[in-house]
Amino acid sequence: MTLEKIKIEAEKEIKKAKDLKELDEIFRKYLGKKGEITQVFNSLRNLKPQERKKVGKEANLLKELIERLVREKSESLKRELADSKLKKERIDVTRPGKKREFGHLHPLTLVKREVEEIFQSMGFSVVEGPEVETEWYNFDALNIPKDHPARDMWDTFWLQGNQKIPNPKSQIPNKSKKLNFESQKLLLRTHTSPVQIRYMETHNPPLRIIVPGIAFRHEATDPTHEFQFAQVEGLMVGKNICAAHFKGIFEEFLTRFFKTRVEVRLRPSFFPFTEPSFEVDIKRGEMDWLELMGAGMVHPNVFRACGYNIGDWQGFAFGFGLERLAMIKYKIGDIRMFRENDLRFLKQF
Ligand code: PHE
Repeated sequence: MTLEKIKIEAEKEIKKAKDLKELDEIFRKYLGKKGEITQVFNSLRNLKPQERKKVGKEANLLKELIERLVREKSESLKRELADSKLKKERIDVTRPGKKREFGHLHPLTLVKREVEEIFQSMGFSVVEGPEVETEWYNFDALNIPKDHPARDMWDTFWLQGNQKIPNPKSQIPNKSKKLNFESQKLLLRTHTSPVQIRYMETHNPPLRIIVPGIAFRHEATDPTHEFQFAQVEGLMVGKNICAAHFKGIFEEFLTRFFKTRVEVRLRPSFFPFTEPSFEVDIKRGEMDWLELMGAGMVHPNVFRACGYNIGDWQGFAFGFGLERLAMIKYKIGDIRMFRENDLRFLKQF
């Protein structure tokens, strides 16, 4: 092949090369060990000196040309490759993002935390107690003796088996030096009031606590009753505590909770562990009175059961349903919705 022909051919092939591999093959075809131009160089020694000089010079020029063309083509191929890669991996920052679903707190948890925050800001501690209780803490210590008709106020889930607890009377200082144990029937607590006893047994007054917790009652469900529900117990014990303290503190709590002025009205009621006992009604602004919960002044027998000197201390106690409070706040018509786990309901909070 003449150098002229090689040149035309090489230029054409380099121009058409589709990728680096092909380009490399073309390079070797002309400048490799057995390449066309290499062969021309190898044949130079067969030529006459005059010819040799001329052809050698031309072959050198062609070698340089092909090297340059291959280098340029290689650069442009690399650029194309990078461009297409960029195009493929391009991120459109203006495209709308994918929405992620976030979980959130249950309405009862939200309300509970709000209640805790308000009472904590008024110096109350948040305390908890067991859901499986003994007869003593749930009833006897709260001045509800065995076989007393007052027990009918709480339909009870009794549990199989007993638990031995220190005989309550032997625990009270100076009553008896020996701690003896007695067997107690177990139940699911019917209210959070037993935690009053548990707390006063182990803490001296003055004291201020609230007790959020689950309670259980063996009764049929309807829009306002569940066999499992959340209660918040409150207890404040100190010197010269009276019903006015309760009314003032509770009005303050409700006003902050509902973010509107709330009035409280006390009606006479009965609970074995308070004397006097109240039914507490609330009124928000122009709205009608609503019954909210039970409360009262701690009964002396309750203080006695905890080993307090009854002349020294007074206190008030209250217990409300957390669901009831949430139902009033969010206008929910059926208490059963809280535990149905229907997302259409839960997602509204
Ligand atoms: N424990 C009572 C109930 O479950 C409520 C209550 C608590 C009443 C404290 C008075 C004082 O219904």
